[in-house]
Amino acid sequence: VNSETGQLLDLHKKAAQLYHHILVNTPAGEGGRRYLTRRGTSAQLIDQFQLGFAPEKEILTAYCEQQKMDYQLLRKSGLFTEDQSGKLHDRFQGRVMYPIKNQYGQVIAFSGRLLNTAVTDLPKYLNSPETPIFNKRRTLFNLDVAKKAARQTGKLYLFEGFMDVISAFGAGVSAGIASMGTSFTEEQVGIIRRTSPQLNICYDGDDAGQNAIDRAIKLVASQATGNLQVRVVQLPAGVDPDEYVQKFGADRFKDYLAGQEETTTDFYLRFLRQGRHLTNQSELMSYLDQALKVIARVTAPLEQDMYLGKLAQEFSLDKAALQGQLGQIKEQLG
Ligand code: GTP
Ligand code: MN
Ligand code: MN
Ligand code: MN
Ligand code: MN
Repeated sequence: VNSETGQLLDLHKKAAQLYHHILVNTPAGEGGRRYLTRRGTSAQLIDQFQLGFAPEKEILTAYCEQQKMDYQLLRKSGLFTEDQSGKLHDRFQGRVMYPIKNQYGQVIAFSGRLLNTAVTDLPKYLNSPETPIFNKRRTLFNLDVAKKAARQTGKLYLFEGFMDVISAFGAGVSAGIASMGTSFTEEQVGIIRRTSPQLNICYDGDDAGQNAIDRAIKLVASQATGNLQVRVVQLPAGVDPDEYVQKFGADRFKDYLAGQEETTTDFYLRFLRQGRHLTNQSELMSYLDQALKVIARVTAPLEQDMYLGKLAQEFSLDKAALQGQLGQIKEQLG
């Protein structure tokens, strides 16, 4: 561990052990323990994800000073903030700590969650900044574990948050990953493509989640190379995967994931309806026009015919007329 990378990885490994120890074994971890208990996070999950707690004290600074670690290394680690005199302070304080690992399972960064977001305007989740070992755009939470699961099942689940991945794992779905925040990147799509033939997007059941699904689908589609099958699992309004597991339990969560998996075309046929009053003739016409544009992009003839059939049935329309309109749209699209 002489290289800078090796030393940074070693520091992160020690920091993760320290935060975990504090959470699990010490009085200083009491607040974190109570928080996770309230959220229904089991001791087993706390161990599996090596969750920790950073108290409102400078414990990491103290530890690193005691170990006589190199100042420049500590500066580069992202684990500290620097005051005007150049003195280092623990960046993470008063937060539940989620170690973020690379695909080999080495800790490369942290995300820290506040216990109580109501009393402050500090960010709910604080992530490590970019460092020589942490590139946000290329990192997916739980990829080290999920890639092994995906080898068996052929699919990855993309969730919004760390707690969604953790609760899904607890429910028996170990192929879950999450990007850092809601920004899903090209680089992450590339990594997913090389890891799994299918990606199921399972974001929160709110407007922000729906719009993020739309952006994620478009991001995958914009990358011409390779084929990654994208499916959507839309959660019920108002819950995220973690809340679903806590409310309804593991079995119903797994049934939901399996039963609600839909194609991106089905997602858009639903998405495009939102906020429209389809009993109104002109709104219906404009919806049908957009829906046919989505259907026009389906390349398999049989599948395309199936969607046309669905649309015709749903609005009691003549399928041949829809077919004719689809033909016109295809000509326009070239
Ligand atoms: P919980 O409230 O702990 O259940 O979080 P959540 O995952 O449900 O949060 P939400 O759906 O609001 O956001 C999804 C993801 O966005 C989180 O897991 C974080 O990765 C990220 N995120 C949320 N809030 C913040 C923030 O204040 N700062 C940053 N950097 N990321 C955030
Ligand atoms: Mn442990
Ligand atoms: Mn959300
Ligand atoms: Mn949540
Ligand atoms: Mn959420």
